[in-house]
This record gives sequence, structure tokens and C-alpha cells, in this order.
Amino acid sequence: MIGIFDSGLGGLTVVRAIMDRLPGYDIIYFGDTARTPYGSKSPETVTRYARQNTDFLLNKGANIIVMACNTASSVATETIINSYDIPIFEVITPAVKLSLKTSKKLHIGIIGTRATITSGIYEKKIKKINPDARVYSAACPLLVPLVEEGWLKKPETRMIVKKYIHPLKVRQIDTLILGCTHYPLLKNIIQQKIGKKVNIIDSSITAAESVKDFIAKNPDIDKILDKKGESRFFVSDITKQFEKTAKVILNQKILLEHVSMSTTHR
Ligand code: DGL
Repeated sequence: MIGIFDSGLGGLTVVRAIMDRLPGYDIIYFGDTARTPYGSKSPETVTRYARQNTDFLLNKGANIIVMACNTASSVATETIINSYDIPIFEVITPAVKLSLKTSKKLHIGIIGTRATITSGIYEKKIKKINPDARVYSAACPLLVPLVEEGWLKKPETRMIVKKYIHPLKVRQIDTLILGCTHYPLLKNIIQQKIGKKVNIIDSSITAAESVKDFIAKNPDIDKILDKKGESRFFVSDITKQFEKTAKVILNQKILLEHVSMSTTHR
């Protein structure tokens, strides 16, 4: 099974992208809705949660793990990769690689949660591959709650996106990475505000493509992944609002199963 976790339900954007590219592969998802948001928490706390989430998915039979959460990918990747002997995917590297491949001016913008932007991970990875690239980033802490409220087209959301994007626009970036699970749902507004010439890279899509490529190149792993077309969605808290958000993201009604994370300590 492909195990996928996120701080909440935003990671369903990655699930959707994986389902589109690997139809029929069984997926087990965990959204840590009781402890969301991760974007305003310390790296130590997010890393501890990431371990617990990984343990949970492995206990449920996951064979590979996708950290759909940009914040967890930013601060916990090294610890998770060093702690488990299975393929672990994060959402940052694939977006970085595509940005460098497609940007002509090498003026690249990143938007994400405060924790992701503070970690400086995108910039480090981009500069490591191409030190000539210019990287401009902006933390957009209000966008996650707006998406979770379902305010996808409200004038207030447009106004806030415009304000966050402005500093990147004046830098004349030609590429913008959406470094957060929730931002694909605001892609149209972000495109309008940054301008149609800027190429937007959706980290949920690049992550899904990296998983697909890996599976194609590793038939031994492909063999052990179940393909019964079954998916299960676990969350650490269930509310009506989460059910609504899940439906908007996946475009279908799903059954959310509750799990208490207090039983998994590490
Ligand atoms: N999943 C988080 C991310 O992609 C956004 C929500 C949160 O802050 O927990 O960074």
C-alpha cells in the first residue's frame, strides 16, 4: 500500500494527484486533523508527529511513505529517511528540480507556511543544484485557514493572496512553487495575481510524478504494492468541516475513519 500522511486534509491534493497517475493502487492516508496546523509549530514537534504518523501507516501495512505535507517534508525528511528502511518520499525535491528545469530567468518564487519558509529548505535545495538561481520566498499563513473554511473564491481571499504575492511579483519571478498542500486549491487566484506569464509549479503534482517514476523504475517495490483499488482515510479528529473539505479536494465523498494518535509514542 502507498502510505500518505499530512497535517490534515490538504494532503488529499497529493492523494488526488497519485490516484490520477497510479489508478488502482491501494492508498492509506492519515491526516493529523487533531494536531493541525503544523505550519506554525517547531521543527522538533513536527518531526515527532511525522514519526508517529509514519509508524501508524506502517502498522496499517504501508510499504512506502509519502510525506504529503510541505512543512513535515521541510523539517523532518532527514530524520524520517534515516529512521526507516523503506522508500520515503517528500514533496520538495521534485518541485525544486522541475523549477530549475523550466525557469528561463532562474528567478524562482516560493510560497508556503511559516515553518516551511523559515526552514529555507527550498532555497537551499535550489542553490545547491544551481547557485546562480535567485530565490524569493513568502510565508502565507492565512491561506491554509481560508482554504479550510472553503473560502476559495471570496473577494477577501483574492485580496489576501494579492498582498502575499506582491513582493514576489515586484521581483519579476518567472516561476512560482506552491509549497503547501492547500495552495493548489487557490491556483487560479494565485495565477491571476502573479500574472499569466509566471509558470506555477504545484508540488502535489511533481511529488505524485516522482512516486510514479520511482515505481516504474523499481519493479520489486511495484510487486509488493496492492492494486485492488481500495483506499482508506484515517484522521485524528473528525468534524463536519473536514468532511466538507475532503469532498472538495477529492471531488468525491469519502469515509473518514477516526484514530487516536495518543496510542503511538516514539
Ligand atoms: N500541510 C501543511 C503544509 O503543506 C499545511 C497545513 C499546516 O500548516 O499544517 O505545509
